[in-house]
Amino acid sequence: MIPSSCLTRLASAAGLVFVLLSSAPPAQARDPGSLPNVMILATGGTIAGTGASSTTTVGYTAAKVGVDALIEAVPELKKVANVKGEQVFQIASENMNDAYWLKLAKRVNTLLAQGDVDGIVITHGTDTIEETAYFLDLVVKSKKPVVIVGAMRPSTAISADGPINLYNAVILAGSEEAVGKGVLVCLNDQINAGREVTKTNTATLDTFRTPELGLLGYLQDNKAHFYRQSTRRNTADTEFDVSGLDSLPRVDIVYGYANMDPTALNAFVAAGAKGIVHAGVGDGSLADAVKPALIEARKKGVLIVRSSRVGNGIVARNGEAADDDLDFVVSDTLNPQKARILLMLALTRTTDSKAIQTMFYTY
Ligand code: SIN
Repeated sequence: MIPSSCLTRLASAAGLVFVLLSSAPPAQARDPGSLPNVMILATGGTIAGTGASSTTTVGYTAAKVGVDALIEAVPELKKVANVKGEQVFQIASENMNDAYWLKLAKRVNTLLAQGDVDGIVITHGTDTIEETAYFLDLVVKSKKPVVIVGAMRPSTAISADGPINLYNAVILAGSEEAVGKGVLVCLNDQINAGREVTKTNTATLDTFRTPELGLLGYLQDNKAHFYRQSTRRNTADTEFDVSGLDSLPRVDIVYGYANMDPTALNAFVAAGAKGIVHAGVGDGSLADAVKPALIEARKKGVLIVRSSRVGNGIVARNGEAADDDLDFVVSDTLNPQKARILLMLALTRTTDSKAIQTMFYTY
C-alpha cells in the first residue's frame, strides 16, 4: 500500500504522466514572496530522454523532452523556487564541444549578473557532465550557486531519477548553503564538486562519485546538507574569462597502455594541438616508445601535461619524469579529461609552462 504522504510518478512510453497523491508542503517551503529565483537551463541528455517503453533503460533516445515539459513534470518545484526554463541547446552530451561550452558559460554569466536570478540549474547528459561542471567551475564569474543535474534513466522509465534529481538541484541552487561552493553536480541525493566528481559506472544511479576525496554533502528532507568543500579556487576567484572568446585552443588526450607507440600523439600534433594531456599509466609514467615524441612536441611549443589514467592520486612533479628538465607540467589530482579543460583555459592566458604548472596547483 502506498502511504498517503507519498508522491508517486507513473512514467509511460507515451510521455510523462505524474500522479499527485498528496500535496504535503516540503519542510523548506517558504512564502511565495521569499522563494529564490532559479533559472533552469536545459541542454539535453538522458534526463530529457525517451524510451520505447517504461522498461527501456538502455537503447533510449537522449535529448527529446523540452525544458517546459521537464519543469511541468515536477509541480513541486513551485513550492521551493520561482523557476523559469530556457532551452540553451538539445544534445546527447557525447556531442558536447567547445562551442556549446562557450555558449552555455556566456549565458550563465549573463543570467547570474542579473539581480533577479539567485541560482542556476543546468540539465545535462551524464556522459560529459563532469567536464562541463569543471569548465563552468573555472569560467563562471559569480558566487551564486550553479548546479548541474542529469539522470541515469530516461524520463519515460519506471522510477525515472530525473524528477527527484531536478527537484533536489533546484533546492540546492536556491540555497544559501551552496553560495560560494563552486559549480556543483547533484544526482542521487548527493552533492559533489565539479572539480572532483567523476562518472564511475556506465548505468547505475549511484554512478557519480568523488573517489577518495569524498562528496560534499547530501540533499535530504528538502534541504542541502554540506560537510566539506573543495579547497581549490573556482568561479569568481579564477583568472579565466570567456566573454571575448569564440573558440578554445586545441588540446588532445593521449591514452597510455602497454605496447603504445607515438602514432596518436604525432597525429594530434600534426593536426595543430597546442597542448597534449598524456594519460599515463601509474603515476603518469611515459613509455620509452613515446617519450621522444613528447620531447619533440614540447620543442615545437606544444604544452605537455602528465596526467594519469589511474583516476586517483597526485601525479608527482619530477617523479616518473624529469619535468623540470623536459619542461613538462603535471596535472596534480585532475583526471585527464579535466586536465584537458584546465590546459585549454590556461592556454587562453599564457604559454609559460611554469605559470601553467601554478594553475594546476591552484584550480
Ligand atoms: C548523455 O550523456 O547525453 C547521455 C547519457 C546520460 O545522460 O546519462
